Amino acid sequence: MRYQLDVPILEHKQLAEFEFELTLKSPEIAREARPGQFMQILYDQSYNPFTRRPFSVFHVDPDAGTFSIVYLARGVFTQGLRNKQVGQTLSVLGPLGQEYSVTTGDITHVLVAGGVGAPPLYFLAERMVEQGIPLSKIKVVNGARTQSLLVGIEEFDTLGVSVIYTTDDGSLGHQGIVTEPLEEILLEAGPENTQVYTCGPTGMLRAVGDLCVSLGAPCQVSVETMMPCGLGVCMGCVVKIKTDKNEAGFNYLRSCFEGPVFDVHEVIWD
Ligand SMILES: Cc1cc2nc3c(=O)[nH]c(=O)nc-3n(C[C@H](O)[C@H](O)[C@H](O)COP(=O)(O)OP(=O)(O)OC[C@H]3O[C@@H](n4cnc5c(N)ncnc54)[C@H](O)[C@@H]3O)c2cc1C
Ligand code: FES
Repeated sequence: MRYQLDVPILEHKQLAEFEFELTLKSPEIAREARPGQFMQILYDQSYNPFTRRPFSVFHVDPDAGTFSIVYLARGVFTQGLRNKQVGQTLSVLGPLGQEYSVTTGDITHVLVAGGVGAPPLYFLAERMVEQGIPLSKIKVVNGARTQSLLVGIEEFDTLGVSVIYTTDDGSLGHQGIVTEPLEEILLEAGPENTQVYTCGPTGMLRAVGDLCVSLGAPCQVSVETMMPCGLGVCMGCVVKIKTDKNEAGFNYLRSCFEGPVFDVHEVIWD
């Protein structure tokens, strides 16, 4: 079920220099949201900025009826978002899009996050633990430019899953990029015995995707595209997905509707 609601801000916390967590009250969304789905958010009744922006769900507390998002204040929309105060409301449309599908069986689940791509993967890890997947079968690789931009350190720690951190500057964990520890995990477990789930900047997604394709590891990717409507109407968010049903060899699918989660083996990156 999808909602359009004005929801109050309960907490607005700065996590790092440009990174913030917003906790919002909405029992409906806390109940319905699934890992990988997103919310289209609008904060200004004067419609400036005019279009909503998509944000993934980070943490859900169904008992308290709350959910949170983490955002990086980088452009016009998110710079405006950071001025919003506790007690003010945001217009939230969602949950939207397709969730990650948790593969069953005796496999190792590998969650690969980059920067503000970590929120939906933390939510996914939380649901996996609730579903009774053993902690030894969940591995997280969480990367960012520097330690302060890593999302979810405390939360993953509390959940008890094993996390390998990577940073470009070596300020925490492995100095380098997420594909290096990912390759080790895949080779150790055997790529066919794994399921990779990933979210992050497009360059990282392509690198993770290329590695999984070359090793034959299944991988679900949440793509980051602009989403002018988020409702499957405008076609402003399409991605090329392989098909053998036409001569071109691909269809354009809407990342807001058929996605944002796709099988990486079917994505054609342009
Ligand atoms: C499924 C999904 C989940 C996401 N989850 C997160 C998250 O959890 N945290 C996070 O920080 N980011 C997330 N993002 C990215 C986030 O939506 C963008 O960072 C945000 O839209 C950009 O806001 P901004 O203030 O940084 O940039 P802006 O300055 O608002 O936009 C940058 C440029 O893009 C254009 N633009 C952006 N959106 C639209 C649009 N809808 N229609 C027309 N033009 C547009 C603007 O005109 C501008 O030129 C997610 C994206 C997707 C697709
Ligand atoms: S954002 Fe309009 S169709 Fe996807």
